[in-house]
Amino acid sequence: MDMATLADLRKSVRNFTDTPIDEKSIQELTDYFETCKKLKDDIKTKTVIVKKDDLPDEIKDIGGYNGFLIEAPYYILIFSERKSHFIENAGYIGEDIILKMTDMGIDSCWITLKEEKVLEKPEAEMRVTGLIAAGYGGKYRNPKLINKMIWGNGYDNLKIQKLETDNEVRMDLLDMVFIGDYGNKAEIDDLINSGIAEAFYAARRAPSALNRQPWRFILDRDVVVLVIKKDEYTNIYEAKIAAGAAMFNFAAVVSERLFVVKWQMGDINRNYSIPEDCVIAAYCGV
Ligand SMILES: Cc1cc2nc3c(=O)[nH]c(=O)nc-3n(C[C@H](O)[C@H](O)[C@H](O)COP(=O)(O)O)c2cc1C
Repeated sequence: MDMATLADLRKSVRNFTDTPIDEKSIQELTDYFETCKKLKDDIKTKTVIVKKDDLPDEIKDIGGYNGFLIEAPYYILIFSERKSHFIENAGYIGEDIILKMTDMGIDSCWITLKEEKVLEKPEAEMRVTGLIAAGYGGKYRNPKLINKMIWGNGYDNLKIQKLETDNEVRMDLLDMVFIGDYGNKAEIDDLINSGIAEAFYAARRAPSALNRQPWRFILDRDVVVLVIKKDEYTNIYEAKIAAGAAMFNFAAVVSERLFVVKWQMGDINRNYSIPEDCVIAAYCGV
């Protein structure tokens, strides 16, 4: 399946059956971990998949909303050293893996980690930076895409797609993408004319803690700027994972269809009238 469809089909599954993932698929995933795209190649990471019983207690103790860890037959652990943007990098890698699993028919859910535990170890020491539940959701599994939206067919089509696949409510894309300056909302024609509407759409479909959707995008001619809105309900760790996941979806769609996208982390140092509760996370040429 193409990346836009995978990003659309993915959803968080929280009820897993006991059905095991067969050895061949475990091997396919393990091989895939070695090929995952990264935001920053200089950050050392290591990804493994473990059975439920092999999840170390120290990780069980730091995972899940309010300490409630979703029960799953498998967990994927992304270990990383601590370097600048290592959390976004883990979000990027994790979304790559999740879309690979979506393609394989394996269900998943990101699980939050206690921020202070991710940060506490000395920089060079590997620490778990991403945690993903994996298995088969049975009747809760990924929905089928009923109506594939065709961009250019107008806003009504966009609405139809939204109702059928957004298992959790998403902000309107037109409230998330600005043109030239923060707050200057895009019109549907701006998105269609940009040629990368589906990439924005895929970014918006990324997972985010408590579904807070912290992403805002500024399309400034040939540059896309990712702005992250700070949030009283989620922490910086969670926002950075969500940022990485959205960046992956965006880059995957553009790279598959048009040209390879490389996100640059940090501020672009242009004046976009960014409000106080927002921060520029990254930007890329398009
Ligand atoms: C950083 C991060 C942490 C998350 N932590 C949890 C969690 O601990 N428990 C949970 O049930 N869902 C968790 N989620 C999943 C979100 O709740 C989910 O992505 C969001 O509600 C949107 O739903 P969707 O993924 O089905 O589109 C997390 C997602 C992210 C990105």
